[in-house]
Amino acid sequence: MKLFLKIWRQNNSKAKGEIVKYEIDEISPDMSFLEMLDVLNEKLIDEGNDPVAFDHDCREGICGSCSLFINGRAHGPDRGITTCQLHMRKFKDGDTITIEPFRANSFPIIKDLVVDRTSFDRIQQSGGYISINTSGNTQDANAIPIEKYDADRAFDAATCIGCGACVASCKNASAMLFVSAKVSQYSLLPQGKVEATDRVRSMVKQMDLEGFGNCTNTGACEVECPKGISLENIARMNREYLSTLLKN
Ligand code: SF4
Ligand code: FES
Repeated sequence: MKLFLKIWRQNNSKAKGEIVKYEIDEISPDMSFLEMLDVLNEKLIDEGNDPVAFDHDCREGICGSCSLFINGRAHGPDRGITTCQLHMRKFKDGDTITIEPFRANSFPIIKDLVVDRTSFDRIQQSGGYISINTSGNTQDANAIPIEKYDADRAFDAATCIGCGACVASCKNASAMLFVSAKVSQYSLLPQGKVEATDRVRSMVKQMDLEGFGNCTNTGACEVECPKGISLENIARMNREYLSTLLKN
């Protein structure tokens, strides 16, 4: 396949960025999207040019690193997959593909298509954990009976990979789908209930400090989330947050 690429190039968060056009040939439909970018970068390096910076790690849909906005959609045209799971068979010979970073004020551009998502790390650090005794006599988690309904909902929430597609897809750059998944994965389980009040307060506070927008129930985040994280989690987080206002 021959493809026409329009790629966002930007040296750093302060520099002015621009779309740069590239042509690339002999792309197999069996290649992954990131392999196609690898081919482009090898060509750029051979020609003595600066390769396109893009984030990736596992290339298996697990780590959440591959944050590309492809033809106006986070993670590209397929549903329920990450950029690294996207294959070139989704495109046709002669197609033009526009590739941009995940855009949000709270995700400043590091270079080209790489954005700084440490704001997510700081939200996690503010409350996305449980305190347990790890001195050698930790209780086996499986010894605590948990209703199947709650266990399934907690597991579903825990599949969030922190990619940021929800933020990039949201007109408000809201992080509420991500934060609510991280709150829910604990709050539905007995182990998470002990610190539930402090957790939701701290994580929402940090989310606001990082400058993410609010949720206005558009639902783009749920549609574009590669892990199918449900809006139900946002409702649960809001209920939990409001109930903390009744406490001290
Ligand atoms: S909620 Fe979905 S889109 Fe948002 S960070 Fe988690 S996996 Fe990515
Ligand atoms: S590179 Fe890990 S999810 Fe895509």
